[in-house]
Formats: sequence, C-alpha cells, structure tokens
Amino acid sequence: MVKPAEIPFTEALESVLVNIWGGTKSNLDASLIKKTRKALVEIRGAYRFKGEFRKKYPSTIQYRLAKNRAGYLAAFGQRHAYLTYAHLKRVESKNPELIPQPQETKSELVITTLGAGAAIETFGICFFYNEESQKLRKLRLNLVEKVDAWIPNRHTVFDKLLKGTFRKLDVIPVDIDCDLTKDCIPKLANYYDAIAKSDILLIYNVMNEITTIHSSMVWRNIKFILNSVEQPLLILLAEPSAPNASPRINWLKTQLAQCTDVILTSDEEEFFFDSGPLRIEFENTGIGLNDRLFGQTMDGSKPQLKTSLKRTHMACRTKPQSPISIEQVLKQLAMLQLKRGKKGRFVRQSKQQQTFWDKYPGWDKLQ
Ligand SMILES: C[S@@+](CC[C@H](N)C(=O)[O-])C[C@H]1O[C@@H](n2cnc3c(N)ncnc32)[C@H](O)[C@@H]1O
Repeated sequence: MVKPAEIPFTEALESVLVNIWGGTKSNLDASLIKKTRKALVEIRGAYRFKGEFRKKYPSTIQYRLAKNRAGYLAAFGQRHAYLTYAHLKRVESKNPELIPQPQETKSELVITTLGAGAAIETFGICFFYNEESQKLRKLRLNLVEKVDAWIPNRHTVFDKLLKGTFRKLDVIPVDIDCDLTKDCIPKLANYYDAIAKSDILLIYNVMNEITTIHSSMVWRNIKFILNSVEQPLLILLAEPSAPNASPRINWLKTQLAQCTDVILTSDEEEFFFDSGPLRIEFENTGIGLNDRLFGQTMDGSKPQLKTSLKRTHMACRTKPQSPISIEQVLKQLAMLQLKRGKKGRFVRQSKQQQTFWDKYPGWDKLQ
C-alpha cells in the first residue's frame, strides 16, 4: 500500500506554485493566492473559449508566462495527476497483461511524455504501480517540451510530489527541448537510446495546443518515436473533449488506430475523483491549498473546486518493428544459400537443389 504521504498532494502542489511565481517562502502568501486564483479563472476561460470572442481568448496559451503555468496547474494539476491512474486502471480491467511491468531486477520503468509541461501526470503512474507494493523504484523520464520555463517547475514536481509521496523512488529525468511542429528527428535521435527503452508514451493535453495544420510534421515526429522503441509500447492519450478541440486530436487517434492495437478508446468520458484513493476535496483546515484557492474568500471571487474531468482518450499498444525488413531477410537467406526448415529453423539448402528458384527462393517477390 502507498503509505500516507508525508507531504500531502496539495502541499506539494503548493511548492510547485511557489516555484513558478519565484517565491521564497514555503507557502503562497495572500497576495500570491489572489494572483493564482485570478490566473486559474483566466486559464479555465482560455480552455473553454479558445480563440473565440474576437480574440478575447487566445488560440494558444503562452506557457513561458508564469501566470499561465501557475493558473494551469492550479486549475488542472490535481485532476491531470490523477487521470493517468484512472486510465491505467481501465487498461488493467480490460487486460492486465497489457500493462508494462517494471523490469524485474531494477524495478524500472521508462516513460516518454510529449508536451511534458510540469509532468504532473507522472504522479498517477507512480501511484498505480506502487499502490499495493513498491513495484516501481526507478522512473526514467524522457520529457519532450518546447517551453523550457517548465524545467525548474517540473523538477519541483519530482522532488516534492513524487519523492514526497514515494520515498524509495528514484526519478531520472531527461529534458528534451523539442517543438513537435518542427522536424524533431535530429534532436530525438540524440536521445535514441533513452527513447528506445520507453515502456509508456504519454500524450496528455498537448495535441489540443497544436493546430491541425501541423499534423503531418507532428505525426512524423511521433512515428519516429514509435519506430525507435524496442519493446511493446503502451500509448496513453487523453485530451480535452470539447467539440472545438476534436479536429486537433481526432487525426492522431485515427493514425494510431491504423498502426497499433487499440485497447480502449472513447470520444468523451467523465472521470470522477470524488471517491477512491485519489479523491479531490477541501482540506477543511483553513490553511490547505484547496481551502485557500477554492474556499470562501474575503474578496468575493471564488472559483469552483472541480472533482471531475471530461476527456477524449485512447490506450493502444505497438509491436516492436524489426529493424530489417522481411524482404531484406529473404534476400540475405537466398544469397547465403539458406532456407527455412520444416520447423522454422534456418538450414543449409541441399546440393541437389539446382534450379534458380531453389537457389533464390522468394526472388520474384523481391522485384
Ligand atoms: C496543457 S500543457 C500539458 C502538460 C501536461 N502534459 C499535463 O497533462 O498536465 C501542454 C504542454 O504542451 C506543450 N506544447 C504545446 N505545443 C507544443 C509543441 N508544438 N511541442 C512541444 N510541446 C508543446 C506546452 O508548452 C505545454 O507545456
């Protein structure tokens, strides 16, 4: 069982918010709480009405601005952190064998995440694996992200949230600075060994940020990752399900469906976090983060504490690709005068096989 965290989730989240605002104290003071509340209301609006109302709401959110990073994490951080847990639970109930297992000797898992941001979604993964026992001890993260302002913030997530909850967990992050709308292959190739070992690819709340015009380049980059991975890869995708978001997401779901085995997919599902081990609630201490962000306030504005999330989602699995095509293999066999024996083993061709077709089996299929 996960032992009660020495640092409760919201306390660790508060450290991340302090880090984003560049604060020096361990908590958000009254003025930073007010700024965070304002920022979270703005981000909720931006998400809801992306690009609408005569540019009142931008079509892309500038995460290099501290107010947008803080507003985003205050508005969605807890629910996004818990969503991976709920997602993995659904995959497990479909077929537990499709859940990648931490490698036995090292209890290690490798996760590549696109549009990593603060990588808060890694929390639910750690919780899933370590709920019953400490199955996961080493987490290698390949964090693909175009905004480097997130780096110190996500490192606070690892130090306070992951290590504060999972004491024995070793987190090894690799920050990969990539804009998925550009050709990332040279950069991704620099991290080839790390990416090739991925067990899970997370595509969480990032496609919604990328307009459809970039889909062919984004797919080229994702395909490079899929082709690099050496073992079966579990791909988890979760994105906003609002109708205006669907063009940015559905093309990728269609592409993935064509080249992977789909485990589950939904156009829209509401995930509830009001019961179970990961429950979102007021702390009722008066000093908890949720109490101060969403509770009764002196200035009147009081954003609602949301305990559910609607998402379009998908889970699918790739089979590793052979680095050498079957055609090349056949050609090589023909040249070496080998063939497949009855039991499937490679055997030398017998001398009596004198015809061209005996000597070069499958030659016609290669032309
Ligand atoms: C909404 S945040 C999601 C963060 C995190 N995955 C989560 O679920 O909470 C989207 C992230 O995607 C990043 N992003 C947007 N467009 C991108 C692109 N073209 N290439 C790489 N990252 C991108 C943003 O900078 C931002 O950090």
